[in-house]
Amino acid sequence: MSVHNQVKRVSVPQLVAYKGQQKIAALTAYTAPFARLLDDALDMILIGDSTAMVGYGLPNTLSITVDQLASHAAAVVRSTSHACIIVDMPFGSYQESPQQAFANAARMLAASGADGIKMEGGMAMAETTRFLVERGVPVLAHVGLMPQYVNTMGGFKAQGMTDESAERILRDAVAHEQAGAFAVVLEGVAESLGRRITETLAVPTIGIGASPACDGQILVTEDILGLSGDRIPKFAKQFADVGAMVRSAAERYAADVKGGDFPGLEHCFGVKR
Ligand code: KIV
Repeated sequence: MSVHNQVKRVSVPQLVAYKGQQKIAALTAYTAPFARLLDDALDMILIGDSTAMVGYGLPNTLSITVDQLASHAAAVVRSTSHACIIVDMPFGSYQESPQQAFANAARMLAASGADGIKMEGGMAMAETTRFLVERGVPVLAHVGLMPQYVNTMGGFKAQGMTDESAERILRDAVAHEQAGAFAVVLEGVAESLGRRITETLAVPTIGIGASPACDGQILVTEDILGLSGDRIPKFAKQFADVGAMVRSAAERYAADVKGGDFPGLEHCFGVKR
């Protein structure tokens, strides 16, 4: 393919430039079919470690590995051409040291072709953000409710509800911005805090259960399509009931098969022997 007819994705600097101009629309995708369908409508697709819970039925995000997320990310990259593709760094793959983070981020980007990584953590992880950004790895920071901290937080709980914790989350976000993060995900924080952080930072904030004042929103795709059973967070508006469609299609399929109503080769290709 010549350079001229290559389709250009939304780039990381373009996402940064959206601040104050247009909101960033982002969703998760873990597989090729979903990524293909979502691509044109979105600015950013995240291969979240939420795939541990959504795709693998695990109780939390802690046990997904770099290799698992890298192969999901490679499938998403292969089947998209428009959205900026960001991949999560799994628990245990970056917290030990900036060097460990760089080695795993480089492995993740090389294996998948993604445009950047997302990393959870407060101020203590800002040094790692700086180390990665200085070495060419775009970092999307994730503060507030951080699912990888489920055991230290004692569950998936809204954050920033006291003045003290709100101040700490603001400082976390500022520290990552100063370290070079291109944007900050704000998860499960009070609306006033989401607004305050958005007004403070020069880089975009991307909210999930945060505030409409954020510079964009990211949600788990299955949550807005009726594919998450009864585990749908309250902030996830439902845009379709694909779950009901799949259930009904499966029932109609099974009824056809039980009734012997399924085509043979002759029906499909007109092949006769
Ligand atoms: O893993 C994930 O899906 C996330 C969210 C921000 C959507 O981190």
